Amino acid sequence: MFDKSAQSGRDFPGSRNDLHVAVIMDGNGRWASNRGWPRLVGHRKGAERVRKLVAACPGLGIRYLTVYAFSTENWKRSTEEVLGLMSIFARYIQREADRMKREGVRLRFIGDRTRLDSKLQALIQWIETETAGNDRVHLSVALNYGGRDEITRATRAMAQDAASGTLNADDISDAVLARYLDTRDLPDPDLVVRTSGETRVSNFLLWQAAYAEYVFTPTLWPDFTPVTMQDILKDYATRERRFGGVSA
Ligand code: IPE
Ligand code: IPE
Ligand code: MG
Repeated sequence: MFDKSAQSGRDFPGSRNDLHVAVIMDGNGRWASNRGWPRLVGHRKGAERVRKLVAACPGLGIRYLTVYAFSTENWKRSTEEVLGLMSIFARYIQREADRMKREGVRLRFIGDRTRLDSKLQALIQWIETETAGNDRVHLSVALNYGGRDEITRATRAMAQDAASGTLNADDISDAVLARYLDTRDLPDPDLVVRTSGETRVSNFLLWQAAYAEYVFTPTLWPDFTPVTMQDILKDYATRERRFGGVSA
């Protein structure tokens, strides 16, 4: 069915005010290497870009922003890079807590947090509770996230519920499975953006992005600004989402 609600815009024609945009933030390492700097400098700049984009979300019509920060495959990187990234995530939570509370940002984490350092797990738990009442912008950070891992964990939990008698196998539907995913409280993404010129999905939101639009931009994540997003949303607004149906 052609989504007519996509026609009622605010900032530019064709936009909505409740979009869910998911971003594969790629290119931090190359951005730093191009300048002869350590990769972590690129990651720090990348975190700064997230902060700016979150602030711009209400003006862009984005209600849900989901960012891919660390994949289940990123543990393959050097210990220095992994630990550096983890400390950037912890610092982001600590430094942004007040601003998020002030500006109505609800922060959630998706992914398997049980493999994270216990201090980081506690910080995640704390900020999720602190911002749980906010509703202006929903920022979700995918951390130790992999789409296959998420579906595997959901399947395991369903099997456990089936074994204990709280779930009937015949009642399993796609809606039931979706409630076992980390994204159970989020709408499906309308748009998935990947930066840095790579044109692959890298295990991101495999279930949820079934009907998302994709935009691939050559911009490296540390160069990505709200204006880059605005241009991408103009492209998105020209697309006709048919969800398997035919044009109206
Ligand atoms: C994305 O940037 C951030 C993470 C995957 C953590 P990269 O670190 O992958 O940057 P490139 O792809 O090496 O340039
Ligand atoms: C995807 O980027 C993961 C994140 C952005 C966190 P990668 O740089 O890890 O992906 P590949 O290895 O190029 O597929
Ligand atoms: Mg990369």
